[in-house]
Amino acid sequence: MDELVSLCARRGFVFQSGELYGGINGFWDYGPLGVELKNNLKALWWQRVVRERDDVEGIDSAIVTHPRTWEASGHVQHFSDPMVDCKACKKRFRADQLDDAPPCPAREGTSQHDFTAPRDFNLMLKTFVGASEDAAAVAYLRAETCGSIFTDFKRVREVSRQKIPFGIAQIGKAFRNEINPRNFIFRSREFEQAELEFFCHPSESAKWFDHWRDERIRFHRELGFGEHQLRIVPHTTLAHYAKAAVDLEFLFPFGWQEIEGVHDRGSYDLGQHAQFSGKDLSVLDEETKERFVPAVIETSVGIDRTTLALLCNAWAEEKLADGETRLVLRLPAAVAPIKVAMLPLSKKLAEPAQRIARDLRKSWNTFYDESGNIGRRYRRQDEAGTPYCVTYDFESETDQKVTVRERDSMNQDRVPLTGLAAYLRERLSP
Ligand code: GAP
Repeated sequence: MDELVSLCARRGFVFQSGELYGGINGFWDYGPLGVELKNNLKALWWQRVVRERDDVEGIDSAIVTHPRTWEASGHVQHFSDPMVDCKACKKRFRADQLDDAPPCPAREGTSQHDFTAPRDFNLMLKTFVGASEDAAAVAYLRAETCGSIFTDFKRVREVSRQKIPFGIAQIGKAFRNEINPRNFIFRSREFEQAELEFFCHPSESAKWFDHWRDERIRFHRELGFGEHQLRIVPHTTLAHYAKAAVDLEFLFPFGWQEIEGVHDRGSYDLGQHAQFSGKDLSVLDEETKERFVPAVIETSVGIDRTTLALLCNAWAEEKLADGETRLVLRLPAAVAPIKVAMLPLSKKLAEPAQRIARDLRKSWNTFYDESGNIGRRYRRQDEAGTPYCVTYDFESETDQKVTVRERDSMNQDRVPLTGLAAYLRERLSP
């Protein structure tokens, strides 16, 4: 983990937010490579969950949400973790994670903390809207993106003219005032979720639960997470309204941890919002004339956690035949931040090489680099996870061919310039 965290900072994938001022705990900034990786992951999710289906609609709702949303969902009352304070060192810990607490630096002789009794600590981040800071101005930063999917359900169904069953999806920021943010971007206070709420007749929820669980497993397999990295863990205890729930867990260097949850939430969410808003959120089945409150299958995946899983899975340190080692990120091409690097063998060849790079940029995120020896430039692209490097050399001037080097095998092909785009398209298309 330490090496990965340092590579992420060194190459500008992800680093501490507010570094200049010593950092702010639980917040992370994505740099030039990180934002491309994360955007590619989000685009792939959107493609599979929204665009490739005619029964899912997308939205992008406000982060600051109406406070009633979170009263109805139970977050204002119940969204808390048990917390203890150490009376000696004044540090705060989650009462259910004390095994991981470092020794107390303030108690000589014994290094044991002197804990208070556990108290509930609400994780919602609050703000005030408008000029006054009284109770009436309190609003919450959403703790999950699904809140507005439920409150927007009626309008989205009407405007999209969708019939049950159908889903609403959203990707966006969520905020939780975690007591102990940790494990890099695994648990932070500001993070992104990609969530789908699929509304169906309550009698069909088991069928749709199976469908979405399988779809989501397929998605993670597409990201390259095999049987040994991804496992499916059914919940042994369920919330009183829930019918079924599984966690999809990834094997991180710090152990098996959840990256996604799939839940059959029954009619709880729409029922709660109907009650708190006083609005009718039931639907009418035109054929049977039955009126019912739809049940919901939820799939909720952490974008940052999946980004971390991708990085962990991609990381490889290899011994090469010449005794050197190389660090390579074997990222799937679909999410790799840079798809092609254009590397002229000499600065004298800059002009034609730049012309090719400009052309490639129309189709792919293309990086141009003419400085340093070619071996070092390959290594830099290996560390960034770039699947293809294209080298333009002096021979290219006469034979109009370039050398394409593949990241994982390091195999090189001599490819005619006229066929370069087709060569890359064949290999980079999903
Ligand atoms: N709407 C359901 C929901 O929010 P959750 O299990 O609390 O369920 C879903 O969160 C996903 O969001 C998790 O599987 C995880 O990937 C991500 N997530 C939750 N808390 C997080 C945090 N503090 N930092 C990063 N990701 C988090």
